[in-house]
Amino acid sequence: MISQLESLYQNFLEELKTQKTQAEILNLKADYIGKSGKISEVLKNLKNLSVEEKKEVGPKANKIKDDIANDIANKLQAVEIEEINQKLADNKIDIGLRESVKTTGSRHGGFHPRTLIRQEIEDIFLSMGFDVLDGPHIEDEFHNFEALNIPGDHPARDMQDTFWFKDESSPEGKKHLLRTHTSTIQVRGMLSRKPPFRFIAPGTVFRCERTDASHEMVFQQLEGMMVGENISVGNLIYFMKTTLKEIFKKDVEVRLRPGFFPFVEPGFELDIKCQVCGGKGCSVCKHTGWVELLPCGMIHPNVLRAGGIDPDKYNGFAFGLGLDRLVMMKYGIDDIRHLQSGDLRFNEQFKTY
Ligand code: PHE
Repeated sequence: MISQLESLYQNFLEELKTQKTQAEILNLKADYIGKSGKISEVLKNLKNLSVEEKKEVGPKANKIKDDIANDIANKLQAVEIEEINQKLADNKIDIGLRESVKTTGSRHGGFHPRTLIRQEIEDIFLSMGFDVLDGPHIEDEFHNFEALNIPGDHPARDMQDTFWFKDESSPEGKKHLLRTHTSTIQVRGMLSRKPPFRFIAPGTVFRCERTDASHEMVFQQLEGMMVGENISVGNLIYFMKTTLKEIFKKDVEVRLRPGFFPFVEPGFELDIKCQVCGGKGCSVCKHTGWVELLPCGMIHPNVLRAGGIDPDKYNGFAFGLGLDRLVMMKYGIDDIRHLQSGDLRFNEQFKTY
């Protein structure tokens, strides 16, 4: 009987070698050590043996059963590992793709320089505790003008030539337009949160303007706003300088001039030394050596009030960074129209993967 069991075990080992899947292995297990498996069949004859023989065969049979169970467990584990490795190999990410694309001559996408700078600025402001907000391109007069202290008859409306929608108005009777600045998101931001808060809002804006080397009809701004108690012009200048230093990776020369925007008081224009010509004068800086980059100021009390904030308790600053101009300064681009040209020869110079 012992030799019978031993040869069964040898057969088992031979069969086990050829089993590939978990199901096959489990079947084999049942075949040998299941209730009516081959080993159990042999052991049914145990009762016919003498006590002496039982003493010898019993432990041997148990050992073979244990060995089979162990062999099965090991094999199952090996098969599982093999399956995992196979899955990993099948789903392998081809990090050599770029090379193979190159050799087949296909073009590979990259980020637009504007996107690169926007992401960089978002990271800088996020690290200084600012949120990043978004808002709609199609706005109404309330969010684009009135809430920003520019009522219907205010001459400042002429500062921003507007694309109006014909015969369309909001339920409150406010005319619709394409937003002329990201300051609309100041209004939305104030109405949806309680001070203190700080956020930036990058986005596309639209103006019905003649285009030239430094003006486009569709361009990008990045609005920023900080509201709290006892905020000062010093805070404003600190955040602006820190941001510019991080972007240009060096100290850039800036100058602050008084500027008029109905939604800030006092208002400033922050100019930077033209990085295209180094200040000598070119078409981008209109031969002045300086580029208007960052209009800003302390938020007008009327604007806070329209945003549901008590101007006697809170104050703050706001700025509207010209994102396209910043891209031009950072990369030394001499014409804003390149940015929207869709010319891949231009875009590909900034590719990062
Ligand atoms: N919204 C202004 C513009 O587009 C810029 C600005 C924003 C000025 C915030 C001051 C404060 O001209």
